[in-house]
Amino acid sequence: MEWEEIYKEKLVTAEKAVSKIENHSRVVFAHAVGEPVDLVNALVKNKDNYIGLEIVHMVAMGKGEYTKEGMQRHFRHNALFVGGCTRDAVNSGRADYTPCFFYEVPSLFKEKRLPVDVALIQVSEPDKYGYCSFGVSNDYTKPAAESAKLVIAEVNKNMPRTLGDSFIHVSDIDYIVEASHPLLELQPPKLGDVEKAIGENCASLIEDGATLQLGIGAIPDAVLLFLKNKKNLGIHSEMISDGVMELVKAGVVNNKKKTLHTGKIVVTFLMGTKKLYDFVNNNPMVETYSVDYVNNPLVIMKNDNMVSINSCVQVDLMGQVCSESIGLKQISGVGGQVDFIRGANLSKGGKAIIAIPSTAGKGKVSRITPLLDTGAAVTTSRNEVDYVVTEYGVAHLKGKTLRNRARALINIAHPKFRESLMNEFKKRF
Ligand code: COA
Repeated sequence: MEWEEIYKEKLVTAEKAVSKIENHSRVVFAHAVGEPVDLVNALVKNKDNYIGLEIVHMVAMGKGEYTKEGMQRHFRHNALFVGGCTRDAVNSGRADYTPCFFYEVPSLFKEKRLPVDVALIQVSEPDKYGYCSFGVSNDYTKPAAESAKLVIAEVNKNMPRTLGDSFIHVSDIDYIVEASHPLLELQPPKLGDVEKAIGENCASLIEDGATLQLGIGAIPDAVLLFLKNKKNLGIHSEMISDGVMELVKAGVVNNKKKTLHTGKIVVTFLMGTKKLYDFVNNNPMVETYSVDYVNNPLVIMKNDNMVSINSCVQVDLMGQVCSESIGLKQISGVGGQVDFIRGANLSKGGKAIIAIPSTAGKGKVSRITPLLDTGAAVTTSRNEVDYVVTEYGVAHLKGKTLRNRARALINIAHPKFRESLMNEFKKRF
C-alpha cells in the first residue's frame, strides 16, 4: 500500500485517538515544546474515561492540567524532570519524581525498566517518502515511539522538519491526528547586569574553536552576548534556543573546528520562538539525534575543547553542586547537566562550567554555602566539578584541595557573605 493510503487509514480525531488508551497504561508525552497539545487536551477533557494512567515526561511547557487537584484517580504524573507546571504536584505528593540522567531515559524505556504502553508524539507533515520528522523534540520522544505498544501522533504543519536521525514513517504510527496550532514557545529571558557579568566571565574561558553546550535560561543567553568576537565556535548541546541563531548569522558559530559532526550543530531538542523553529526547518546545518546519543558522555567527549555551561541552586565549600532541589523540595531535575559535565571533563581541552548568580531570593541568601541544605540532592559531585563562575569571577576547582577550593569559592561569593563563609573556613581548616 502507498504511504498516502496508510496515512488516510490512520487519520482520526483527537478524541477517537485517545479513546484507544487503556486504563492503567503508562503514557509518555513528547518532550517540552514538542508536547502534542490537542491530544493532551483531549485526554484531560475525557478524564472520566480513565483510571490510573501514569503520565511520564520531562520538561513540560503546557498547562499540566492532569497534575491538578482532583485528577489523581485518573492520572498520576511520574516526572523525570520537574518544571513550573508540575512542581506543586510533585512537592505536594500528587505526582512522583524519578531521578535519572537524561541520556539514560531511552534505555529505561527500551530495556523495559520503564516500559512504554503509549507514546503521544507530535511530528512534522510527512515528506514525499512518508517520513515525518520529530522536529523540535527528538530526545526521548523518538525512543519512546520506537518502544511503545501504541503510537499516537499529532501531525502538525507548524512542526519544522529537522534533519539528522529524526524520522518516523507513517506506517510506524498507529493513529494520526492532524493539527495546525502554533508550537509552544519559550521567549528569550531578560538579561540584567548580574547575568551579563556572569556571561562575560564565562566567555573569558571560551577559546576560538571550542564546541559549546549551553543549558537553559538567562545565563547561557548572556554568555552568547560576549562571544561575538570569537571565531569558529561549534555547538554540540542538549538544546539550543534563539541566541545561537544570531551567532550563526554573524559567522561566529560555523562548526568548522568540531572534531565530531564537523560543520553541524548537533542537538537533541530545541526550545525558543517561531524564529528558531523557522531557522531549523530543513536546515542542513542543524541535526537532531536522540538523547542517548547526543548526551552520552562518551559521544560528547569526542568533541575536543568541549565547554559545557550549566547552572545550579547551591554549591557548598567542598564543590558539591545541587541543581535540582531547595533542601528536600524538588524544583527541577538533573536533566543533562551531569551528562555534559562528564563529557566535557573527558574531552581533550574540555571545560565544565557551573555558572550562577552569587545570591538567590532577591539577594537574601548566598548560593555558595558552607554545606548544602539538609535534603538537597547532590547533582554534580565534588569529584566532577570543574569551574564555578559568578558575577564576581571564576573559581577553578578541579585538582584543588578542599582548603583551596573553599578559598576560591569564597572569593567569588557575594561580598556581603564572604565574612561568614570565611568564619566557617577558619573553623574547618
Ligand atoms: N536558596 C533558596 N532559593 C533558591 C536558591 C537557593 N540557594 N537558588 C535558587 N532559588 C530559588 C530562586 O530564587 C527561584 O525562586 P523564584 O522562582 O521564587 O524566583 C527558584 O529557586 C529558581 O531558581 P533560579 O536560579 O532563578 O532558576 P533558573 O531558571 O535560573 O534555573 C536551575 C536554575 C539550576 C534550576 C536550572 O539551571 C536547572 O534546572 N538545572 C538542572 C538541569 C540542567 O542543568 N540541565 C542542563 C541542560 S538544559
